[in-house]
Amino acid sequence: MNILFTSSEVAPFIKTGGLADVAGSLPKALAAAGHDIRVILPLYDGIGQEWREKMTYLFNFHVYLAWRTPYCGIFELKQDGVTYYFVDNEYYFKRSGLYGHFDDGERFAFFSRAVVEVPAQLDWHPDVIHCNDWQTALTPIYLLEERTRTPQLYGTKSVFTIHNIEYQGRYGRGLLEDLFGLNSGYFHEHMVAYHGDINLMKGAIYAADYVTTVSPTYAGELQYAFYAHGLEGVVSDNRHKLRGILNGIDMDLYNPTAEGSLAAPYSAEDLSGKAACKAALQQAVGLRQDPNVPVIACISRLVDHKGFGMITSAIHKIMAMDVQMVVLGTGDWNYEEAFRQAQMQYPGRFSANIMYSAALSTAIYSGADLFLMPSIAEPCGLSQMIAMRYGTLPVVRETGGLKDTVVPYGVPNDNGFSFANVNPHDMVWVLGQAVDLYYNDKERWQVLQRNGMTRDFSWSQSALDYVQIYKWATGTDTASDQEETPEEAAPVPPQEEAAGAERPAAQDASSGADNAASGTEKKPAAKKNAKSKKSAGKKK
Ligand code: GLC
Repeated sequence: MNILFTSSEVAPFIKTGGLADVAGSLPKALAAAGHDIRVILPLYDGIGQEWREKMTYLFNFHVYLAWRTPYCGIFELKQDGVTYYFVDNEYYFKRSGLYGHFDDGERFAFFSRAVVEVPAQLDWHPDVIHCNDWQTALTPIYLLEERTRTPQLYGTKSVFTIHNIEYQGRYGRGLLEDLFGLNSGYFHEHMVAYHGDINLMKGAIYAADYVTTVSPTYAGELQYAFYAHGLEGVVSDNRHKLRGILNGIDMDLYNPTAEGSLAAPYSAEDLSGKAACKAALQQAVGLRQDPNVPVIACISRLVDHKGFGMITSAIHKIMAMDVQMVVLGTGDWNYEEAFRQAQMQYPGRFSANIMYSAALSTAIYSGADLFLMPSIAEPCGLSQMIAMRYGTLPVVRETGGLKDTVVPYGVPNDNGFSFANVNPHDMVWVLGQAVDLYYNDKERWQVLQRNGMTRDFSWSQSALDYVQIYKWATGTDTASDQEETPEEAAPVPPQEEAAGAERPAAQDASSGADNAASGTEKKPAAKKNAKSKKSAGKKK
């Protein structure tokens, strides 16, 4: 299949969060499966010279963005079987930082229009344009008309993936025609209209042929007000075309057996090298050298929804246990300050590293014993998977991808610890259980480590799940057309309610949760497929 994958950040070129990791690793897996996958992203100022030297200038054209016709240059770079296109416009992208500029709406509208105009320039037909998060949300909307007038887009379908519903791209009504170049017909309740404003993510959810999110549990959670940031009704309305597919991680990048990046390599069979990694970590971050005390780690943006309110309110209870703690990350001032204070109060036992550092994060993943991630919401989360890969046991709240990847202590194949409610006492209780296991049952501890280290967190299955979505979207999956049943289309409501979650009365939570656990929830709605088969201009 021909796939155009669009994202506002892609590792290793430019990254602020997990979106970049996914946009870096999923396309590689799709290329390895034999697809023609091309990734398109803005050419930001922050993209380093080492990459620029490998790029080739292809061509330039003028993008139609309402009354504007800004310049758009395209640079190409090929790597690992994937073709990358970098969209050049220095006015929009030669700035510091990726986001947070006064005109982000215009910058990403320009990018989203460039994405639908590039196939004609390349004379290349994508079967699917796969868009990610609000920055690319205009692309499926533009495609609705563009695929009826651009030959290279005849029959092209769109898939929109929600990595985080918190950021939606909300703008005043006045920008519809003047900035986004959409006529007033798009301002209705089943498109971008949202409480009198424009909501780009809402528009993408309606316009896309399929919508996915990054874990089965989050797909269910998104239908509740607690998680959906005002879009629960929109998500529910579109549940017939919504699927949750768990992210993978780059197993080569995060590899405890690799020589070079760690103090000593180790594996599930021979964990002995982890002791050297722990000693190196304690040394590097100023923790007392002690091979026998459990080290609890946090690596994250220090923001509310990652559960740092629970951590900071319980910090003295945590430190009252015989543990050490290391935190790495930047974020809200109150959390940064609380951790700096803790470092002063617990010298040699608490280490606050208020910064971003890839090298230190590897040292922590490998050197720590426990990885604390009590997120209030977590669409997928990659860190808990990376931690498990390094034999560091996660302690998580049961939400989103955390629930789908961490099997709690005591359950068959357990690989970590978890708790259900947004409640610091529950968190501390479970941490206590983990610390107790560390001190009193090393053998059982190692079983959990090995269960995590040997679980397949690669893209191999999830990439196939995306291909299945592409096939449903394009109507090329004739086999499962015959098997489909409409009941199976409903995505998965969560098993438990988080504090404050509202559960719609008519939902069958238990059957949905079963689907999530077994991963069998695969069939599209009959209605949807019937529609895609009717689509104009079937491609080659
Ligand atoms: C966002 C989500 C995170 C997810 C990542 C990649 O950053 O917050 O949970 O893992 O996207 O999909």
